[in-house]
Amino acid sequence: MALSNIRLEVMKTVEKQVDSFVDKYLIPIEDIWQPTDLLPNLQSENYIDEIKQIREESKELGYDFWVVLVADMVTEEALPTYESWLMDMEGVQQHGRQDGWSKWIRHWTGEENRHGDTLNKYLYLSGRVDMREIEKTTQYLISDGFDIGTGRDPYRNFIYTSFQELATNISHKRVGQLAKNKGNKMLAKMCNVIAGDEMRHHLAYREFVNIIFEHDPSEMMLAFQDMMKKKIVMPAQFIRESGEGIATAFENFSNAAQRLGVYTTYDYIDILSKLNEYWQIDKFTSLTDDAEKARDYLMALPDRMTRIASRIAVPQDQHQFKWVAANGVL
Ligand SMILES: [Fe+2]
Ligand SMILES: [Fe+2]
Repeated sequence: MALSNIRLEVMKTVEKQVDSFVDKYLIPIEDIWQPTDLLPNLQSENYIDEIKQIREESKELGYDFWVVLVADMVTEEALPTYESWLMDMEGVQQHGRQDGWSKWIRHWTGEENRHGDTLNKYLYLSGRVDMREIEKTTQYLISDGFDIGTGRDPYRNFIYTSFQELATNISHKRVGQLAKNKGNKMLAKMCNVIAGDEMRHHLAYREFVNIIFEHDPSEMMLAFQDMMKKKIVMPAQFIRESGEGIATAFENFSNAAQRLGVYTTYDYIDILSKLNEYWQIDKFTSLTDDAEKARDYLMALPDRMTRIASRIAVPQDQHQFKWVAANGVL
């Protein structure tokens, strides 16, 4: 379904500022960190000692921890899905005249690509996980794709990315904290620097939405409501283990993340509250009738979700994943 002209006009208008967004929220390739900065240098004389350090430090980390780190890494490695999805948004033109939006998406992808790369190499060197099983999961996830409920609508997509970048900031930061608590400095640092990237991206996407709110408040509000009614699904919604059906690993992964406190329902609610606050949802007047109702729905949603969340218990039984052996050592 084609979008109304006003959406395309708004995308064109905001596009004029994209160069300044790239300068403000992304870091030039020559200046930004690379995975190798955080990993053992295999060209150095004492690389064996550094690898030994990784393997020694990783001994303290428990089963759920490895499961979550693996799934986080696989989520990052499915980046081709996310780039192709965003490139397909209405208002983005990657052929012929290369527009500002496709420039943003390419630069963002370039930054994101370092995340999976870093964590993949760490997991490989740790010797604690079955990399072949994990690699199959990654290939499955890319093959299975995702459906985040945005269609080709940029408004819905920017709600999704505003939300999701903060969710990944929180989860990488928490994994880093758990690693630090167990004395694993190298991994803690990796997670923290990755979390820093996610925060910059979040700030950018929430600004895109902010500007769209200035141009097209009622439609932006309706898009926000629609995404929250559908619920923001995780990009790894279809994750599976080898030999299993599509999406069968997601719930067990999500339960492990909740048990560790890496990403919980309360974080989801908190992100929603933060977005409501930043976009000053409560301040909007002169909306269409439907958009007024959407605003009221969004304002009431955090409290409503908190009441429901308090009644739901997180399952405590650990699922045995093919990615990680029961005692963590394969
Ligand atoms: Fe990332
Ligand atoms: Fe991200």
